[in-house]
Amino acid sequence: MTRSIIVFGSINLDLVARVPHLPKPGETLSGYSFVTVPGGKGANQAVGSAKLGGSTRMIGRVGGDAFGEELLKSLQDSGVQTALVMVDRSISSGVAMIAVDDRSENHIIVIPGANGNVDESDLEKLQSTLTNSSILLLQLEIPIAIVELAAAIAHQIGAIVILDPAPAPTNFPNSLYPLIDILTPNAIEAAQLVGFPIENESDVDRAATVLQQKGAKTIVIKLGSQGAFCATERERFLTPAFSVNAIDTVAAGDAFNAGLAVALSEGLQIREAMTWGAASGALSTTKSGAQTSLVDRSTFDQFLKQKP
Ligand code: RIB
Repeated sequence: MTRSIIVFGSINLDLVARVPHLPKPGETLSGYSFVTVPGGKGANQAVGSAKLGGSTRMIGRVGGDAFGEELLKSLQDSGVQTALVMVDRSISSGVAMIAVDDRSENHIIVIPGANGNVDESDLEKLQSTLTNSSILLLQLEIPIAIVELAAAIAHQIGAIVILDPAPAPTNFPNSLYPLIDILTPNAIEAAQLVGFPIENESDVDRAATVLQQKGAKTIVIKLGSQGAFCATERERFLTPAFSVNAIDTVAAGDAFNAGLAVALSEGLQIREAMTWGAASGALSTTKSGAQTSLVDRSTFDQFLKQKP
């Protein structure tokens, strides 16, 4: 059985500046270049899933502006079903101001725009399309109360709920954890959730235990070039990172979640799904931008074949 993938989340236009280094407070910096690229954690995960061959539907909002049209087109061109994406004419589209430096590090400031208006009417759309064989991908760039309600609906139906707690939350409700099948923070987000810094392997292990005790079933902590740690109810293991020539890490975490979800949608077990996530994340760092860095299935299969 192939599971369908539903992404309920944010859609942004990324305004990306390449700079020699990330600016310090008060610093005026000359950059090298500027581009606009479709992004948003939700839309990136949707585009990543669809390009890898997942049957993918997006639920969310764009604004009634030119950015909104561009964002919808990018989703559609990548094969994402967008019938449930609302054009909200009361507000502008979400934007993210991104600086990427010579070391491929980035800073991101997100202005929610239409994403901040996602509400109960969007939940009704979710309810009408979810089944017990769906995989629901959530992030935290829409109101967290709505995220929790979405997780509750999916949990009750028996769908698989994968929550990426990004951007790092300051107000993550304890009642949300038991609704999550797979929680996928990076080290910064995990530290924010558990309340202690994550600096070494034993911190990672301890953080996963704390998050499981809070009620999430499986914890995946994304550690960039150090790989990704997975703790399920039965096993704990580290999936090593693929070695690639990284030029831009924007959306690498989204690409990871897309790879993970598509693998699960095709019936693969968690170890293999982690490898797919790692491969998808690594490949995305070899190209610039968010949705522009997400690869299609044949490139992905070729990469996995070459780097077993
Ligand atoms: O995860 C990367 C994304 O974060 C960017 O595309 C940007 O829109 C922000 O949402």
